[in-house]
Amino acid sequence: MGAVLRAGGISLRRLADRFGTPLYVYDAERIRRGVDRFASAFSSVPLLLAYAVKANGSLALLNRIGALGAGADIVSLGELRRVERAGIPAGRVIFSGVGKTERELEAGLRAGIHAFHAESQAEVDLLSRVAGRLGLPARLGLRLNPDVHSPTPFAYTRTGHAATKFGIPVREAEALYTARADDPNLHFVGVGVHIGSQIAEVAPYLEALDTVLGVVDRLLEGGIALEYVDLGGGFGVAYEADGALDLEALATRVVPEIRGRGLRLVLEPGRAIVGEAGLLLARVLYTKRVDAKHFIVTDASMTELLRPSHYGAFHRIRPVERRAGAPTVRADIVGPVCESGDFLARGRRIELPEPGDLLAVETVGAYGFAMASNYNGRPRPAEVLIEGGEAVLVRERESLEDLMRGETIPPLPGERDVRDKV
Ligand code: LLP
Repeated sequence: MGAVLRAGGISLRRLADRFGTPLYVYDAERIRRGVDRFASAFSSVPLLLAYAVKANGSLALLNRIGALGAGADIVSLGELRRVERAGIPAGRVIFSGVGKTERELEAGLRAGIHAFHAESQAEVDLLSRVAGRLGLPARLGLRLNPDVHSPTPFAYTRTGHAATKFGIPVREAEALYTARADDPNLHFVGVGVHIGSQIAEVAPYLEALDTVLGVVDRLLEGGIALEYVDLGGGFGVAYEADGALDLEALATRVVPEIRGRGLRLVLEPGRAIVGEAGLLLARVLYTKRVDAKHFIVTDASMTELLRPSHYGAFHRIRPVERRAGAPTVRADIVGPVCESGDFLARGRRIELPEPGDLLAVETVGAYGFAMASNYNGRPRPAEVLIEGGEAVLVRERESLEDLMRGETIPPLPGERDVRDKV
């Protein structure tokens, strides 16, 4: 066997032996670099970097991202509680999402978040009522639907065009700002868009920016001065050699427009901060050949990493240790789940491993663990953070007992105590 792959200076073989597989491994240094790239590209405007918690809400990662000065973009009460526990100040939190409940609006108001991004008139009405009842005026912006067609690799992650459920059409949004400008329970502070995910080109952002600035300028003429513009997230990363968005090129175009108007900029990157910082370690259970086709069966599946199965997404997969003389084959790399859609890669050229060998699935820091499930009775994997040359377990592997927590087996109807009957 040759050299062993490493993460943050630590051998992946040692990590697998110590923590077991499947295992998510994150490199704190790469997360820091992710945050720094935004901070330096946009250093000449006041920036709130609101990390999209949905990409990876693990407390340890949130804590480190917050410590670097970032805030958070959340979409649920569950994410609000995580962010609070991780120590990110509420004043740096943006509450997004098309279906916030009354309870969530109330919790956000009580926490004192930076702003809500409302996506319908009905939500604005409800927010006003809740804010009035609590005596806590709501800071808010509207999420526009700019009707931009963004070239994302998957249809499900295109969110900026008119046919999606997201945002409010521009004309309607402007009318809403104007109509509710005097509502004492509402304080309109910003305007936002999010046009999609894994966008590798600058152009769709500029198109959206143009629309947003048009709204900002027209509102100002009508006497409504907003504080910030939020361009959302979606900045592409390098799953393959290309695919990464050129942040500097984007900043060069965006910064003058924002500065010129004395605005603040909010960005909501998820993937661009954590995506490349994570890998998934899997152990090969079996290999088999059916006619001319090779299958490599690993202990990681669609329940640990849904993206290949759900979107047909590509993730690089490399043997942790290369085997001298191993033939290169074209193989489906699959998990144990009983679905033919359960695969990590299809038709992938790879040096044929042997049972017991380890594979590293790359660029899975975003939407990896976050989309993990218990389907097929599978505990969710452990997570390890590598920092300062040390590996720390930051989430235990779920236990078999965890899988049944909260469930009961009721007695049969005839055997129930009469007092239980309603
Ligand atoms: N802001 C809003 C309002 C969003 O809806 C999203 C992602 C983001 C920011 C962050 O996008 P990012 O920078 O991470 O691309 N599960 C899919 C991605 C769904 C993204 C949903 N919204 C995937 O695995 O690619």
